[in-house]
Amino acid sequence: MTTLLNRRFLLRERPSGDFDPKVLQRVVEPAPVPGPGQALVRNLYLSLDPTNRIWMSEGDSYLPPVPLGEVMRGGGVGVVVQSNTAKFPVGAKVGGLFGWQDYALISDSGEQIAQVIPGWLPVPLTATMGVLGVTGMTAYFGLLDIGKPKRGETVVVSAAAGAVGSIVGQIAKIYGARVVGIAGSRDKCEWLTKELGFDAAINRRDADWRAQLKAACPKGVDVNFENAGGEIMEAVIELMNLHGRIVLCGMISQYGKDDRRNVGPGNFVDLLFKRLTLQGFIILDYVPRFPLAQLRMMWWLKRGLIQDRHTVVKGFDNAPQALTQLFTGANTGKLFVEFDDPPKG
Ligand SMILES: NC(=O)c1ccc[n+]([C@@H]2O[C@H](COP(=O)([O-])OP(=O)(O)OC[C@H]3O[C@@H](n4cnc5c(N)ncnc54)[C@H](OP(=O)(O)O)[C@@H]3O)[C@@H](O)[C@H]2O)c1
Repeated sequence: MTTLLNRRFLLRERPSGDFDPKVLQRVVEPAPVPGPGQALVRNLYLSLDPTNRIWMSEGDSYLPPVPLGEVMRGGGVGVVVQSNTAKFPVGAKVGGLFGWQDYALISDSGEQIAQVIPGWLPVPLTATMGVLGVTGMTAYFGLLDIGKPKRGETVVVSAAAGAVGSIVGQIAKIYGARVVGIAGSRDKCEWLTKELGFDAAINRRDADWRAQLKAACPKGVDVNFENAGGEIMEAVIELMNLHGRIVLCGMISQYGKDDRRNVGPGNFVDLLFKRLTLQGFIILDYVPRFPLAQLRMMWWLKRGLIQDRHTVVKGFDNAPQALTQLFTGANTGKLFVEFDDPPKG
């Protein structure tokens, strides 16, 4: 019998500053063998997320840091290839935190995040990592529960052409808001306005992006869906109306900073003067409410009110390099890696 070989990326050292693919070490080991109540998943797709950089750092966040020498934590979608549990039968497609590796063990005791993906879903499997998965749900709950946009209000979203941002803007349009996106290239801005229906999109790399943003928000900003942090967040706060809402979803420009005391907006005092509400949130708190939101999202997809786009990188060995795309802005929509065949034993 041939042994299944498992390519894995281990966290070798903690990055300082920007993510460097060298902090991940590729190893090949025999795949684990499922025991009683366990199943073996072969990964098909690996979700790449800005939070991967957060998980590599020491210190408190919302999950413990990945221990040095351990397999890198990561979400994904796979298929059950061996099983000793009726909960995960062979052939079932599953989604969960399976790590940066070809094969992962899951168990029916519920100790890891692993869920069977229903076969009847009218969308490609990869949508369960994006528009119907964590990033789509983040857009949905962040915007509707916290941002609460009203018809005619102005919503500004940063990292607008990314997985979360592109869905935020489209939902805000469904709710009748004026939507302004901030993205990192002219092509992305054209996609947002010409295909997704954003009212305006600002290229954050233009020298006069602040002036463009102001011109695009003639009635000020009511809701700021914040994905970027830093100078972008400061510029939007400057334009916010009294009693505006800030949905603090992410601060990708700050994830490489070692000193967290210096990552806040410099004009924080404007929250006081303008009576703004700022709420941070982590999507894990909303998991029990996913099913209804997923149904609504499927309905919007079916009616063409939401478009889903992704950037796919083929070949698991390319995963560390692919992760840099999130920080250079090379991706549009949800970024993931499609696994190739693991090596033969
Ligand atoms: N709170 C939660 O539970 C939760 C869940 C999921 C994601 N998030 C957060 O949501 C945000 C978006 O995540 P995503 O998965 O959808 O990623 P994404 O937007 O698809 O990719 C990241 C994008 O961020 C932009 N970016 C990178 N570096 C930047 C910088 N220095 N300044 C401004 N923009 C920069 C780039 O777009 P441009 O070059 O086009 O600007 C890049 O494409 C992240 O902050 C992430 O941490 C939060």
